[in-house]
Amino acid sequence: MRRKLAAGNWKMNGTAASLAEVEALAKAHPTPAVDVLLCPPATLIARMADRAEGSAVAVGGQDCHANISGAHTGDISAEMLVDAGATHVILGHSERRTDHAETDAIVRAKTEAALARELVAVVCVGETEAQRDAGQTLAVIKAQLAGSLPDAGVDGATTVIAYEPVWAIGTGRVPTLEQIAEVHDFIRAELKDRFGPVADGIRLLYGGSVKPSNAGDIFATSNVDGALVGGASLKASDFSAIIAAL
Ligand code: G3P
Repeated sequence: MRRKLAAGNWKMNGTAASLAEVEALAKAHPTPAVDVLLCPPATLIARMADRAEGSAVAVGGQDCHANISGAHTGDISAEMLVDAGATHVILGHSERRTDHAETDAIVRAKTEAALARELVAVVCVGETEAQRDAGQTLAVIKAQLAGSLPDAGVDGATTVIAYEPVWAIGTGRVPTLEQIAEVHDFIRAELKDRFGPVADGIRLLYGGSVKPSNAGDIFATSNVDGALVGGASLKASDFSAIIAAL
C-alpha cells in the first residue's frame, strides 16, 4: 500500500561535478519500482532539478526557514525551494538539531511552512547513544514526534518520517533489526493515535549507515518503507544498489 522511498541526503557534499551522479542514477532507474529522491546542498538544487527533469529522480532541500521571506541572512524559504525545483525537504535532521540548536518547536514551524508550500516534509527523529543506553529511546521519539509535527496537514502524501538513531549516522554502526522494528512499530502506533487512519499511509524511513550490503535486511523489517541514506547516496553505483534492494 505504501510505495517505498529511497532518499539520499548529500549533506554538505557535492559540487557541479557531482551532478553526473544524478544522470547516472536516472539512467540506471528509468522506471524504478520505488520513489527516488536526492537532497543535495542548496547550491545544487536548481541544477540538479534541471538534470533530473523528465526522470524518476525527485529533488529536495535539506532544510527551510519557517518564514516565507524576510531578513534571515543565509536562510532559504520553502517557497525558494519550490522555485528551485524541489518537491521535498528534509527537516529536523539531528545534525541541524545539534549544529543549529533546532528544537522540536522550530522543526514544527518549518514543517508547517513546507506543507503550506506543498513540499513533502521528511521529518527526522532519533535518539542519541546516551539516551538509548539510559532506556529512553521510545520516550525521546515520542516527544520528538509530538513536538515536531503540526496538528493539521499530516498524511501519507505530505509527510514522511525518518528514524535516524544519532549513534548510527556515519559510524558504520546499525541497530539490530529488532531495534529498528521496535522503533518503527512504535512510530506507526504514535502516528495512528494522533492522526488516525491516514497514518497508515505515512512512509517511515530508516537512516543511519545504510549500505548496499545491509539494505535488503533493513527494508524487509516491519514498518520500514525505505531509507534516508547519507554517505552511500553520493555515488550512483552505491545508491543504485540500495534502490535495487528496496
Ligand atoms: O540523513 C541521512 C543520514 O544522516 C545517514 O547518514 O552517512 O550514516 O548514511 P549515513
